[in-house]
Amino acid sequence: MRMLALAVSGRGVVDPAQPAVFADDEGFLRGRAAFETTRVYGGVPFRLDEHLERFAKSAARLNLPPLDRDLFRRLTSDALAAAGEPECFVRLYMTPGREGEGEPVELVLVQALPPDLEDMRASGIRLVSMPLSQEPSLLGGVKSTSYALNMLAVDEAKRRGADDALFVGPQGTVLEGSTTNIWWRLGDVLYTPALELGILEGVTRGALIELAAGLGHAVEVGVYPLAAVAEADEVFTSSAVREVMPVVEVDRAEIGNGSPGPVARALQQELRRCASSS
Ligand SMILES: Cc1ncc(COP(=O)(O)O)c(C=O)c1O
Repeated sequence: MRMLALAVSGRGVVDPAQPAVFADDEGFLRGRAAFETTRVYGGVPFRLDEHLERFAKSAARLNLPPLDRDLFRRLTSDALAAAGEPECFVRLYMTPGREGEGEPVELVLVQALPPDLEDMRASGIRLVSMPLSQEPSLLGGVKSTSYALNMLAVDEAKRRGADDALFVGPQGTVLEGSTTNIWWRLGDVLYTPALELGILEGVTRGALIELAAGLGHAVEVGVYPLAAVAEADEVFTSSAVREVMPVVEVDRAEIGNGSPGPVARALQQELRRCASSS
């Protein structure tokens, strides 16, 4: 994904082709850094305050200094102005800075949307379940840069001919995707795993819980076995960049009739409508 602009604390907008962090930054050395990813619609980041709220919690859980929300708001608007692209996404990062110095580094990257998203939405994606060997750890629910496991899970899913991974806990409990929350529908009811399982509290998940009610769907949040997903009428994932992404196959078995479901489509439309009116 192409970087369109970059803004850095203490420096403002900088050349994205030049390095912006030192080799001894703890974010790089140890993978200790908090981040957020937010979709930008018509030049406006979607639910930025909610992302900043989650960002502040992640930073606190990683023992980083308190998050400066106003600084991130400024860096975000400066970077977006420099990028000049109204449909894109931003990534916000806070690292502890150089080892031993304790001077945090804040960065905002503006990136182009992946070009294949709408094709994926039209065809639906395939997931493979992947067991997590541990219960959610100290990092459960924290959006930290320690995402090597998530990225390896995507590689492994692709190696097995699918598009993404679906994490399953030690008791066979369905958790979340590598970078998404998981949803499914049986009849009129939508289901998604509970936050107590240590999954990330997706901002898109929160928006869909609100929007589903408007479409007349009850949402049940709980603890479910993987079989519940396999037996669903339709399945989809939610995340800032991919929005509502239909799932047509889990572990090589078709979901429903094997094509994207109607509620995923309706929620995607509602999400866009909500984003363009906010
Ligand atoms: C592990 C994980 N779960 C869920 C999500 C979805 O969160 P959001 O809707 O805020 O993008 C993400 C997004 O990055 C994620 O990394």
